[in-house]
Amino acid sequence: MEQQQLAIVLEQGLAELSSTKTIPELEQVKSRYLGKSGQISSLMQQIKSIAPESRKDFGAKVNALKNEFEIALDERKKHIIQLEMEQSLLNETIDVTLSGRGISLGTLHPVTLSLQRMIRIFNTLGFSVQDGPEIETDYYNFEALNFPQNHPARAMQDTFFTEKLSVLRTHTSPIQIRFAEANPPPIKIIAPGRVYRVDMDRTHSPMFHQLEGLWIDKDISFANLKGVLIQFLRTFFAKEDLQVRFRASFFPFTEPSAEIDIMDDNGRWLEVAGCGMVHPNVLKSMNIDSKIYTGFAFGLGIDRFTMLRYNINDLRLIFDNELDFLEQFRGQA
Ligand code: DAH
Repeated sequence: MEQQQLAIVLEQGLAELSSTKTIPELEQVKSRYLGKSGQISSLMQQIKSIAPESRKDFGAKVNALKNEFEIALDERKKHIIQLEMEQSLLNETIDVTLSGRGISLGTLHPVTLSLQRMIRIFNTLGFSVQDGPEIETDYYNFEALNFPQNHPARAMQDTFFTEKLSVLRTHTSPIQIRFAEANPPPIKIIAPGRVYRVDMDRTHSPMFHQLEGLWIDKDISFANLKGVLIQFLRTFFAKEDLQVRFRASFFPFTEPSAEIDIMDDNGRWLEVAGCGMVHPNVLKSMNIDSKIYTGFAFGLGIDRFTMLRYNINDLRLIFDNELDFLEQFRGQA
């Protein structure tokens, strides 16, 4: 009877062990048999209440049963751990034959594209690229460019003032002065950069981009100015017969001054740049003798050129960084 009982307990225990699939399940079986009130534990308890003559034999059998169960438990545990490891290796397998996900590259901003195009064109015409600070002094932004104190032209510029006598540059023209102070003529530079004005609506942004040009040498005339700028405009807009018009205007730093218009496809004149012969007062602040040297300067809005070139009808598109918009310029040169 006892013999049979022990065999049943062992058989059951082994069967339960071999049906476990996880460590927690195994732990449950373990406590059902070896726990405080587990089946094997209570058999151990029974040993002392067995009649003395059969106690030894019973004790040995219970111990053997317990031993066998423990060995089986141990093996099952190893087996489960092994299975779990194999499973996790399987899950983490890297299939090196899968094709890559690809890196999504950004695109150059249309303003960058235009600027690069301008630089390429002016480089072929012999101009080098220069820059200067965006926070300027009143002197470089105005004074040296022949804007007298209290001159109404200063008010035209809608200046952001920072500290006393400092401004966010309202144009790229101060770079003319800085470069000429440090470099004697001949001077042949372009200077692109950010400029700032208190202005914001459909066609104005408080920050925008300008490109300044300056060519000073002996015998530079308005004819040179026209030659360079017409050549530039026709190349930039890729239109050999682009109509260009120079319309008399005023800037403090040039004399004579002109605004440059181009004709669009509908026969309308569009203003695209300002220019003129460098004013003698400006040459003076550059320490250049205006009896020996003359020069011309020009300034244009890079954003405006970008809008014209790509038919962009809202300036905000230039600054909003809408990916759908920017994507359209992928691969453009
Ligand atoms: N600085 C002018 C502006 O911001 C643009 C300009 C006009 C620059 C004529 C020049 C120039 O060098 O000659 O409106």
